[in-house]
Amino acid sequence: MAITINVNGTDRAVTSDPATPLLYVLRDELGLNGAKYGCGLGQCGACTVIVDGQAVLSCSMPALLIEGRRVTTLEGLGTAERPGPVQRAFIETQAAQCGFCIPGMMMRIEALFREKPDAGDGDVRNALEYNLCRCGTHMRILRAAKRADELMREAA
Ligand code: FES
Repeated sequence: MAITINVNGTDRAVTSDPATPLLYVLRDELGLNGAKYGCGLGQCGACTVIVDGQAVLSCSMPALLIEGRRVTTLEGLGTAERPGPVQRAFIETQAAQCGFCIPGMMMRIEALFREKPDAGDGDVRNALEYNLCRCGTHMRILRAAKRADELMREAA
C-alpha cells in the first residue's frame, strides 16, 4: 500500500511497509541521508527531522503516521551552494567533530527557532537535551546555535 508524504515541499509516494520507521523511508527509499541512524531507540537524536514544525525522532515514528503531514529534513534547510542559516552557523563555528550528531542538532535548533524566534540560551539547552554528542562538542554546538540565531535575525 503506497502512502504519500510531503518531504521538503514535495509530495513523495512511499511504498515501504507503512509500519517502517520514517528514518528508513527517508534514507533507504527516498535517498535522503541527512537524518542519521544512531541508536534506533529514540535515545540519541541523530535521526531528528521536523514534522509539521515539531522536532521528531524519525527512528521511532512509523511512516504511516506521517501521511498528509509535512516533513523537513536536513536537505530541506539548504544546499551545499546555498546553506540555510543554521547550516551556515555550524560551518562558521566549526561545531562538528565527527559530525554524526550534527544533522539532528541542526534540525532541533531549526525547529526551536521556527517555533520560538526569541529563544534564549536556556531554551536551546533544553531543546538539545534530546540530542547526544559522543565527541563532547556541546559548547561548540551552543555557539553554533547562537550564531544561527544571529543569522536568522539578519535574514528576517
Ligand atoms: Fe533515533 Fe537515536 S537514531 S534517537
